[in-house]
Amino acid sequence: MLRNDQSVLELGFSPRLSFETEGVRYSGSKRSVIPKIHELIHVLPIRSVLDAFAGTTRVSQYFKSAGYDVHCNDIAAYSTVFGRCYLENCDVERPGLDEKIKFLNHLKPVDGYFTAHFGGEDDGAGLVKAADGKKKPFLLKNTRKLDAVRDQIDKIAEDKIEHAILLTSLINALDQVENTLGHQVAYLSKWAPRAYSDFVLRRPRLLAGDGSYRVTRMDARKISDRCDLAYFDPPYNTNNTHTPTTRVRYASYYHFWTTVVLNDRPQSVGASNRRLDCSSDTLPGAISKYESTKYEQVLEEIDQLISGVDARYILFSYSNKGKVGIEDLEKLFARYKVLAVEKFSHRENVQKLLTSNREWLGDQSANFEYLFLVEKSLPRSAGTDFCVSQGRGRKMTAARPEKQKCESIIPMPPPLNIYGNRGIRGLLK
Ligand SMILES: C[S@@+](CC[C@H](N)C(=O)[O-])C[C@H]1O[C@@H](n2cnc3c(N)ncnc32)[C@H](O)[C@@H]1O
Repeated sequence: MLRNDQSVLELGFSPRLSFETEGVRYSGSKRSVIPKIHELIHVLPIRSVLDAFAGTTRVSQYFKSAGYDVHCNDIAAYSTVFGRCYLENCDVERPGLDEKIKFLNHLKPVDGYFTAHFGGEDDGAGLVKAADGKKKPFLLKNTRKLDAVRDQIDKIAEDKIEHAILLTSLINALDQVENTLGHQVAYLSKWAPRAYSDFVLRRPRLLAGDGSYRVTRMDARKISDRCDLAYFDPPYNTNNTHTPTTRVRYASYYHFWTTVVLNDRPQSVGASNRRLDCSSDTLPGAISKYESTKYEQVLEEIDQLISGVDARYILFSYSNKGKVGIEDLEKLFARYKVLAVEKFSHRENVQKLLTSNREWLGDQSANFEYLFLVEKSLPRSAGTDFCVSQGRGRKMTAARPEKQKCESIIPMPPPLNIYGNRGIRGLLK
């Protein structure tokens, strides 16, 4: 039988390779970028991959299905839950899971914390109505079901993996009926058609795997484990000087998922009943260092991140609308061997065009995503047993090919690399 690591190192892909992933709507999700990531990395001699800002874990899911050993990390509690469900769990059968999901779907709705803070009614004209006069993200029938389901999950889950699978199932279901534009700092004043549906828990798309999968929740800069490739997708922040404070702050943008996961009934504040602990930038942990409004601070953070990581390769995602200018990132990466820089347009998320009070941000200029791929250090046993796979789309075969020595990485083909084969260094000359 073909082991995953063999397929990665020698064949370049795994029998389970899939670009299909599952996850909630998420600002900055790299769902649509996965094929580009694959195109860049599948030729590299790598086995272990770090996804340090995993968010929805969609990219980690791809890494797992491509056969890599994956370390999936994010500072957000809900991301850890997704990581346990999609990465740490490798049992796709999970006997008894369907019965538990069915049991949860048939619970009698109850009034509880979620209903008191996040449930609303239709005023008869399709507008949101609630006793406290605030907009709400769910109809009462759905928050009542949530109140019943959330407490039961703690009681029926056998272990932390099953707990995470059931929570992921719940969050995925809620995401389908949430009355928002894809984030939780402002809710719509009119009920969207999706909000009228009853949410239904379904079995998440569980992934098999025979590699090693680790899920952590820590500041990306504190990760000290060695990996072959580190993928960094930090918060982009904003370079819009007119509205520098209107940027994606993940703790606040997805406060509701945090509360569903922790089930800690926090004190809530403001128009969206956000958790108190993420309601102000001055509270510890409320904003990430990558979300600072100070340019130098964000640049310094990124600099420390890439210089500190113990990885042979770094793949870095950023945007031309991000806080740090692409020219400054180019300078940081020019310290290493630049293998590719990809620039491509990425459909701007609807919410990025709106402020929290739904005014137009005004900056409608083109949004470009960047992927930087650099070789930072040589492997521990340089040039001994790695071979970069040749060509794309080769037919998969279970036969084990002879190991060959390779001198160097195959250069990225010119159409992929906006600076041609000279890389960034050439550009900076
Ligand atoms: C652009 S999103 C990543 C999206 C992810 N690649 C996906 O496809 O879903 C940035 C992520 O960084 C996380 N984050 C912010 N600061 C962090 C830090 N210091 N260490 C680790 N994760 C952090 C946020 O919680 C958020 O999920």
